[in-house]
Amino acid sequence: MKRLLVTGGAGFIGSNFVHYWIDNYPEDTVIVLDALTYAGNIENLNPVKDNPSFKFYQGDICDSVLVEALLKEHQIDTLVHFAAESHVDRSISGPDAFIQTNIIGTHSLLKAAKKIWLDEGVNKETHRFHHVSTDEVYGTLEPEDPAFCESTPYAPNSPYAASKAASDHLVRAYHHTYGLRVTTSNCSNNYGPYHFPEKLIPLVVTNILRDLPLPIYGDGKQIRDWLYVEDHARGIDLVIKKGRLGDCYNIGGVNEWANIDIVHFICELMNNLFIENPKFADKYPQAISAIAGKSQELITYVQDRVGHDRRYAINPKKSSSELGYMPLESFETGIRKTLRWYLKNDSWWGAVMDGSYRKWIEKQYSSSRQG
Ligand code: NAD
Ligand code: TYD
Repeated sequence: MKRLLVTGGAGFIGSNFVHYWIDNYPEDTVIVLDALTYAGNIENLNPVKDNPSFKFYQGDICDSVLVEALLKEHQIDTLVHFAAESHVDRSISGPDAFIQTNIIGTHSLLKAAKKIWLDEGVNKETHRFHHVSTDEVYGTLEPEDPAFCESTPYAPNSPYAASKAASDHLVRAYHHTYGLRVTTSNCSNNYGPYHFPEKLIPLVVTNILRDLPLPIYGDGKQIRDWLYVEDHARGIDLVIKKGRLGDCYNIGGVNEWANIDIVHFICELMNNLFIENPKFADKYPQAISAIAGKSQELITYVQDRVGHDRRYAINPKKSSSELGYMPLESFETGIRKTLRWYLKNDSWWGAVMDGSYRKWIEKQYSSSRQG
């Protein structure tokens, strides 16, 4: 039986991971530590909130006194670290929070883990620090370049990617120098339920439902490798179970799409959902274009992101051969599940859009973005 501390467990991937873990390992204890920034939402944990082996703490990963107390009080043996500032556009307009949480915060967690697990000897031989990172640390690919593998040199381009790269190096160093039992996973773009609607897929879905423009940065031909979030949770589970200490594993979706193609595909699916289910028109009367089967008309090309990476793609060879990992969800099945989730959960994303995020996005769009 494991005793987990999950940082950032009220965010998109962290909350999906907590649901996955409690469903699959009901005998384990899961403690969530989350600062509830604009991206964190306690409602993301509603499906597990009454579970007796689950507990939530609101707090900052930089608060080492709190982290040390949690590690000790709950006899934590496995720390899964998701907490981060995660949106590239925000890292361009305000990098400081990324340095603070992603670098200082990760270091603070590593220090606390070293103190309790190594210096004080609690779970000395059995602990695990699993760090969740991104493929963006590898930089950008040209169309014909081979996909990123674990030995691809780091070349981060955005402040977000650079802050994640720094945190990856610190995790590695704590293994090499102090013997902390760490693993790292570098994963491609996730999608699925509870995805904050500032990222491409949930933004497009919720904008269709509100008949708002679907902003495409630049020429829309940038490529991402999309992974259903539950497959990511399974991948992390395998790394924790089978991954070699001190090692890194890439987790991808084997699913490369150009942004403009994905937006067209979502528009088409949404149009069809409205045609097949007349009740959606009653629920979303403002979705005028989708009701008319013309969501594509909302597509609006806008100014490109500064320093926009052209292509990300993950070579899944190491995680498939060493861990037996392959994504289970196809993009067609994963995206359908996702669209249905957003259609059903308008109260979730409606509340999210009304909060501080809305003020931020209005500021962004009133300045430079319209093209
Ligand atoms: P998210 O922005 O949805 O959630 C981040 C969570 O961390 C939020 O709940 C937030 O409240 C919490 N948090 C932020 N600062 C904190 C702090 N100082 N102390 C405690 N909690 C804090 O992010 P996500 O998309 O779920 O990403 C989770 C992790 O996965 C991140 O480390 C990210 O770099 C990585 N990742 C994300 C993707 C993706 O497609 N979303 C892809 C690869 C890797
Ligand atoms: P995003 O979801 O922000 O993830 P990341 O930047 O981490 O890959 O963006 C995915 C892609 O979609 C990226 O190439 C930027 C692009 N994009 C748009 O074209 N329009 C948008 O409104 C957003 C948010 C992203």
